[in-house]
Amino acid sequence: MIMTKEKIVIIGGCGHVGIPLGLAFASKGFDVTLFDKNQININVINGGELPFAEKGGKEILEDHIGKNLRASNDCSFIKNADIVFFVIGTPVDEHLNPKVRSVISAVEEYIPYFTAEQLLIMRSTLFPGTLHVIQEHLFRHGVNAKLAFCPERVLQGKGIEEIFALPQIVSGTTEEAVAAAAKLFLNLTSQIIYTTPDEAELAKLMTNSWRYLSFAIANQFYMMANDSGVDFNRVYDAMTAGYPRAKFFAKPGLAAGPCLFKDTMQLAAFYHNNFFLGHAAMLINEGLTDHLVKNLKQKMDGSLCGKKIAILGMTFKANNDDIRESLSFKLKKLLEIELAYVIESDPYLKNSVPLEEALKTADGVILGVPHDEYLELQINVPFVDCWGVWSK
Ligand SMILES: NC(=O)c1ccc[n+]([C@@H]2O[C@H](COP(=O)([O-])OP(=O)(O)OC[C@H]3O[C@@H](n4cnc5c(N)ncnc54)[C@H](O)[C@@H]3O)[C@@H](O)[C@H]2O)c1
Repeated sequence: MIMTKEKIVIIGGCGHVGIPLGLAFASKGFDVTLFDKNQININVINGGELPFAEKGGKEILEDHIGKNLRASNDCSFIKNADIVFFVIGTPVDEHLNPKVRSVISAVEEYIPYFTAEQLLIMRSTLFPGTLHVIQEHLFRHGVNAKLAFCPERVLQGKGIEEIFALPQIVSGTTEEAVAAAAKLFLNLTSQIIYTTPDEAELAKLMTNSWRYLSFAIANQFYMMANDSGVDFNRVYDAMTAGYPRAKFFAKPGLAAGPCLFKDTMQLAAFYHNNFFLGHAAMLINEGLTDHLVKNLKQKMDGSLCGKKIAILGMTFKANNDDIRESLSFKLKKLLEIELAYVIESDPYLKNSVPLEEALKTADGVILGVPHDEYLELQINVPFVDCWGVWSK
């Protein structure tokens, strides 16, 4: 049954997770409000544009905006909703501890608009135990709404595609909440995975930590091979070619973005800083930037002072416009400490130096992220490329 009449409000709906989720539900006939405090993004979306790249998003937006889809900061939409999602950010602080309070405060802020009939679904990544804390707060304020936790696991930029393709983890504080959340998600996916809230919270954090650790292994091996004068690309090919047990061996690269590092640190905080692998992965993945700058320096006669160094790719992942927690900016800082003049170039960013100009001016190049535009380039100055794109 398609529940065309149900009203869904997504709090934090104009962000990276909220938009694909809202578009997916709107495309299935739900009445969707992307509720947010970011007035700029509200205006952009209501004007029929997406604030960030999202594959397949523009078409759905154009078909549904002003009909069964809108962006707004009007709280009356929350009051009248059947289902309320929370997808606000869940960051770590400057000491790498989870800011659990920020998500609880956000829930508290909207308590006056909740009703007993509603289904509240937490969609943000949660520090283990947070759903029960939220439940306590709701009880204390006399809110008896159904409360579920259904974590988002999609790939940034391919959210819509993956929402329909991936199984959905569903958990909740009551059987009624779980049943209602599962019924809702069956409109988007055919496979529901039932867990307890604690299991769902850990499943989400462990998935991201596992990916972060996988990249750290590849990056550690890359640096180890490089430091001993061996081409890691050839080692990688030798290890993986026709060898099924190395099928999932990650490739080296700058492991960045808003989720992997943050969620690894959340897991470390949860395990009272005994998650040694997680901390080691952080040192390796963040330390890769130092290694790349050191390598380039060696290739440029031991000094970067006064040299023009182009970083190609400033976003945190390829073929995407998101710069959040991108390690290219850390590279920039390290190059500036070496007194290099940094040229930032990225086809996805306005106001960055065009590729042709960057290549014409640069004395040296670092591949920040392997956008498609860079794959066939012939670099004629010293360069470093941990992604293995130009080395081949
Ligand atoms: N980006 C991803 O690919 C991804 C994937 C899976 C899970 N997640 C998780 O999803 C959550 C959200 O991440 P995101 O990337 O969408 O973040 P984001 O910063 O892009 O979006 C968050 C949105 O929430 C809004 N917001 C913040 N506080 C608010 C409030 N009190 N009231 C109303 N709106 C508010 C912001 O204006 C912003 O638009 C995080 O927990 C993240 O870890 C992200």
